[in-house]
Amino acid sequence: MTIDIHSVRADFPILDQQVYGRPLAYLDNAATTQKPQCVIDAITNYYTRDNANVHRGVHALSERATAAYEGARKKIADFFNAKSVREVVFTRGTTEAINLVAHSWGGVNVRHGDEVLITHMEHHSNIVPWQMLCDHVGATLKVLPINEKGELIMEALDEMLSGRTKLVGVVQMSNALGTINPVAEIIERAHAVGAKVLVDGAQAAAHIAVDVQALDCDFYVTSAHKMYGPTGIGVLLAKEGLLDAMPPYQGGGDMIRMVTFEKTEFNDLPYKFEAGTPNISGAIGFGAAIDYISEIGFDAIHAREKELLAYATSQAEAFKGLRLIGTAKEKACVLSFVLEGVHPHDLGTILDREGVAIRAGHHCAMPVMQFFKVPATARASFSIYNSEAEVDALFTALKKAQEIFG
Ligand SMILES: Cc1ncc(COP(=O)(O)O)c(C=O)c1O
Repeated sequence: MTIDIHSVRADFPILDQQVYGRPLAYLDNAATTQKPQCVIDAITNYYTRDNANVHRGVHALSERATAAYEGARKKIADFFNAKSVREVVFTRGTTEAINLVAHSWGGVNVRHGDEVLITHMEHHSNIVPWQMLCDHVGATLKVLPINEKGELIMEALDEMLSGRTKLVGVVQMSNALGTINPVAEIIERAHAVGAKVLVDGAQAAAHIAVDVQALDCDFYVTSAHKMYGPTGIGVLLAKEGLLDAMPPYQGGGDMIRMVTFEKTEFNDLPYKFEAGTPNISGAIGFGAAIDYISEIGFDAIHAREKELLAYATSQAEAFKGLRLIGTAKEKACVLSFVLEGVHPHDLGTILDREGVAIRAGHHCAMPVMQFFKVPATARASFSIYNSEAEVDALFTALKKAQEIFG
């Protein structure tokens, strides 16, 4: 199956607009993707017809809201091949999911003298919570190094893993480099020393088919807004046995079965980790986004995105003065670069005036910038709705920026 770019673009109403009199070329998909009409409709329909609180109502609207909310959970369980809906915890996003694991699981399982191993290409959200945990309990944070291409140095993994390693945190696809990491291999090696593994799928989940059972990862986290879904909702997928043994992350309504002033009995999974009124419309929109991706299918997504990345990469390689940051053999959809003589932020501003939306900065991955000795990069990131014409617009705008800065 192939992607019909015209019909896919027609699914995203926001793409059909001009910015500063130029057609919008939205190339900031690693920050957040645009939303198809079906996702917008699912949220609108919920607020138009079904809005009510979930789980505790006895009326028709509450029943419909609960069915839609729990239906979304089932879609997510099936999409990632979780064993059951009990393994699917809604969170605000990847960041909250990692913080949940670091606080709840880490608080009980990581002790003085233990080690947490992450990699040099993690997003800040998969660095800082572990750093805070390690500081708090007196554990050590270790970092698997990367090479000049922006790949993990896998040869170093075995010597960094030991019986002291309690958890390995690894990004499946780097937002700053585009690198796709061999997470299955990392999980296998980490399990061999008894460590648990958290996979950060914030970038990967829209581009790669993920089967959490086949991967055998202990924790998988992602955000809906990078998968054509709404902001403010994401998911923690975790093995039931681990979730069962973990203490709640937050206390409040919905996460309890029985409360007295002396004692509280916590609710079943996954509700034990969902205190308070959840993001109901967000979950429903997330479910619609999952349907949308499933309808297109990962074979078609993968083929199209590979084609587009190859097209953009060949232009980048031929572009004088452009240095690509991140040239891993296995990579997807991200073109991070610096242009000689032009600061990435100036580049971003000039490109914006040409209708080309990219990201400029450290991409919440400062250690990656430190490794490559750059203050920031410009980053174009592609999605299923991007066209070759938009890639051309990027390079035409880059040429213009180069001319302006002499
Ligand atoms: C690799 C990676 N991890 C984590 C995050 C954090 O995601 P969120 O801000 O949706 O919680 C991002 C967001 O850019 C990311 O790219």
